Amino acid sequence: MIKKALILFSLCAICLWGEEPQVLYLTWRGDPSTTMTVMWHTDDGQDTSIIQYQREGEATWHHAEGRAKPLLKSSVTVHQVELTGLNENTDYFFRISDGEIHRFRTLPNGLNRPLKVVIGGDAYMTPEPFTKMNKEVASKDPDFVILTGDIAYSEGLRCALKTLRWKIERWEEFFRIWTRDMVTKEGRIIPIVPVIGNHDVLEGFDDPFKKEVLFYEVFTFPHEGIPFRLMRIGKDLCFYLLDSGHTFPVAGSQAEWLEKSLVGNQQALFHIPAYHMAAYPTVTAFSHRSSRDIRKFWCPLFERYGVKISMEHDNHAFKRTFPIREEKVTPGGVIYLGDGAWGVPPEKPHRHWYLYKSAQINSYWLLTIDRERCLCEAYNNDGELLDKLEVLPHHKAPL
Ligand SMILES: [Fe+2]
Repeated sequence: MIKKALILFSLCAICLWGEEPQVLYLTWRGDPSTTMTVMWHTDDGQDTSIIQYQREGEATWHHAEGRAKPLLKSSVTVHQVELTGLNENTDYFFRISDGEIHRFRTLPNGLNRPLKVVIGGDAYMTPEPFTKMNKEVASKDPDFVILTGDIAYSEGLRCALKTLRWKIERWEEFFRIWTRDMVTKEGRIIPIVPVIGNHDVLEGFDDPFKKEVLFYEVFTFPHEGIPFRLMRIGKDLCFYLLDSGHTFPVAGSQAEWLEKSLVGNQQALFHIPAYHMAAYPTVTAFSHRSSRDIRKFWCPLFERYGVKISMEHDNHAFKRTFPIREEKVTPGGVIYLGDGAWGVPPEKPHRHWYLYKSAQINSYWLLTIDRERCLCEAYNNDGELLDKLEVLPHHKAPL
């Protein structure tokens, strides 16, 4: 009798909540020390979004509800629940309704401990190299990953039938693999902080307000429909996550916002911009419009307001530039690190006056940041160290 009741209860639970989703990821739209946004996708018509969560060691489960939104008229529903009022630098368990238990960690409210951040770009073109890099990155146990554009290649790939359905399936494939791979060996889900790239929007850079941007639908931002934003780690560290001309122009309101944000956070120890296109590219043309715009409208701000390193991508190669100021190699200038080769076939860099190091190789940057320094290490997808440099806080003398 008891056995029958248990079977009946299990069946009811499956009917009510379905199976564990294959797409489940964590991100932030709020303060990363006190919030976590849980997102997952379903395709069985579920229209409720409920998360139960508890601090490690806590006995009771808290309950949070969010929103469920169809993904552009498709059968996929994007669920989003923002957990708020969390403790900083703390491990939590969570589950969707009463499903499988997962783990996450909030960030510290400042550089109270070394923070490990992975930054890369140009991610999912084919499964094998994407997975290889994911696993290498997860093995480094980063606090989170900033994925700077060309994430799922839902736009711009040569394909006969680029229907909306095909594009949505590209994102679903990306997320299924990401969900599977981006978990540490302790079972902690590594949050994703997305930045927009040219292959995340409709082809062509000329219309900044194209509709049906899937990137906007599958992620969440502090201000809906505005992908450029500031991610602050307490008062110590600022990431300026920028749109290099894909849905917002480099100049104008975004550049004004960037200057205001840099000025308003001058007490921070480190200012790190991250964006897709490169001011100082390895493979694409130096004269490319986006590169010119970034050099004209953003780089002078970086130089004026204490940026030491800037993370850029798109080129499918590895790079470190010399320090640069006013488009000349200058000690104490900004060093540009990149160059967007997470999971794409790597391309051969050109020779340029500004390249200190470059290579045709899959790579990413791991930043380990505390109050004294930012250690920047580049690795390939076999975990071999390609490059290493240290950067001091912006109010200290250059190394
Ligand atoms: Fe790109």
